[in-house]
Amino acid sequence: MRVGLVTSGGDAPGMNAAIRAIVRCGTERGLEILGIHRGFSGLIEGEIEPLDNRAVGGIIERGGTILRSARSEAFLTPEGRRRAVDEIGRHGLGGLIVVGGNGSLRGARWLDENVVRAIGIPASIDNDVPRTEMAIGVDTAINTVVDALNRIRDTAVAHGRAFVIEVMGRKSGYIALMGGLAGGAEVILLPELSMELAEVVDQVLHGVEKGKKHSIIVIAEGFAPTDHPNPPPSSGRLVAETLECDGTVETRLTILGHVQRGGSPSAFDRILACRFAKEAVDWLADGRRGAYAGLVGRRILPIPFTSLDEPCGNVDLSLLRLAQTLAH
Ligand code: F6P
Repeated sequence: MRVGLVTSGGDAPGMNAAIRAIVRCGTERGLEILGIHRGFSGLIEGEIEPLDNRAVGGIIERGGTILRSARSEAFLTPEGRRRAVDEIGRHGLGGLIVVGGNGSLRGARWLDENVVRAIGIPASIDNDVPRTEMAIGVDTAINTVVDALNRIRDTAVAHGRAFVIEVMGRKSGYIALMGGLAGGAEVILLPELSMELAEVVDQVLHGVEKGKKHSIIVIAEGFAPTDHPNPPPSSGRLVAETLECDGTVETRLTILGHVQRGGSPSAFDRILACRFAKEAVDWLADGRRGAYAGLVGRRILPIPFTSLDEPCGNVDLSLLRLAQTLAH
């Protein structure tokens, strides 16, 4: 069977480890793997070529994706989808493996329901895919955040300042929560727990009153205060400016941005990528369809694409309370 392999949406560290494992496990199962370049955009344009074991050598340690990626607007249109269907037929694809986040897995679902058997592999630093405890890339991104917090704390201590650090995650606070907990943040602000700006200032000042000479405030990009219901262009900037206006503590802002998406994947992400890939290949080779790989406890299980409609629930607010206790 010919199987198309596509990495789609925002790249995540570990995608290359997944590509390598899909090709090599696929070869062992007698599958012919064809790499689709530039996500669903490349599928529409027919940018498809065979991948063999040698083509995926020396990439397990590399961030990004050798197949490149894209957020395809065209794939959301009927014309784009018609062209994708044509290319799948033209290349004789009997199966598809889609490596990506929520949006990409929804694309896989549509293809599975309408065109060709598809299996998904969750890869997104946001960790917002339902029913998998982890997606590929999350662990590396959190470690990048923790490394940044360590560095920022040095200068925060030296100057006795408050630092607002805005992290990625779209509507999910997972990176902020786990990065903040591991980095010993004084305050963590999540989209999952909104509050008024005045309350944010109170939390920071509470630390100052208790004798803290510096503060690390980790804020998820999706945090929107209840008194600013429309998410501001930068939630971090809004909070930093509010603290500066209050005048009690000198404040600086760091927006970590895309630095969180790059870098060599952690051992955890490489291993998760290898395990997801092995199961995805076996499922396709055994005739399964319509599911993505999920890490559930110690096992990798097939999660039906329909689960993408469920809330994610990966953000555990009891860990926020723990982080608050530990910041005392
Ligand atoms: O989904 C991954 C992610 O990095 C989000 O955390 C962030 O909001 C978004 O992608 C940024 O997208 P882009 O790279 O297209 O600017």
